[in-house]
Amino acid sequence: MKTKETGSDPKFASKTTQQDSPALNELFKDSIADLYWAENHLVKSLPKMISAATAPELINAIESHLEETKNHVVRLEQIFELLGEKAIAKKCDAMEGLTKEAEGIVESTEPGTATRDVGIILASQKVEHYEIASYNGLYQLAITLGLKDVAEILEQTLAEEKLADNKLGDIAENEINYKAAEEA
Ligand SMILES: [Fe+2]
Ligand SMILES: [Fe+2]
Repeated sequence: MKTKETGSDPKFASKTTQQDSPALNELFKDSIADLYWAENHLVKSLPKMISAATAPELINAIESHLEETKNHVVRLEQIFELLGEKAIAKKCDAMEGLTKEAEGIVESTEPGTATRDVGIILASQKVEHYEIASYNGLYQLAITLGLKDVAEILEQTLAEEKLADNKLGDIAENEINYKAAEEA
């Protein structure tokens, strides 16, 4: 039962302010800096996956997500601005590991095969899941910290990461996994 009706959107009800929780705000800013490194790293890493992939639908999917990823970088810069901070990238060990794994899969599979495409999709979906977890967590935290504008920006990118993940999953399930199963 509802006990209080404020009339404002409860989703964005600020439970705290930036001054109230310096440690949590610091953690939030650090996490944005970590994600900023990760997205910038992806802008460099995705073209390698595009050149390694074979199926046109996979190439198209990664190409269009590369364009979105460039915009994810811009959105994080907007967030730094809203926070009154300089855009600083803090090395994200997780994203470095995930992209290394993707490159390892490419090296260990034959060019032009559906098997390599399957590997690229597996690795790419791990990247998307990492991004989904990060954006989802930071979106929730932005709401807790009363950073409504920041939360809205994070939500836009979160939606694109989910769509990219779904698209990759569909490409694997509808086509490429079957093709790879027929390869030697
Ligand atoms: Fe992204
Ligand atoms: Fe992504």
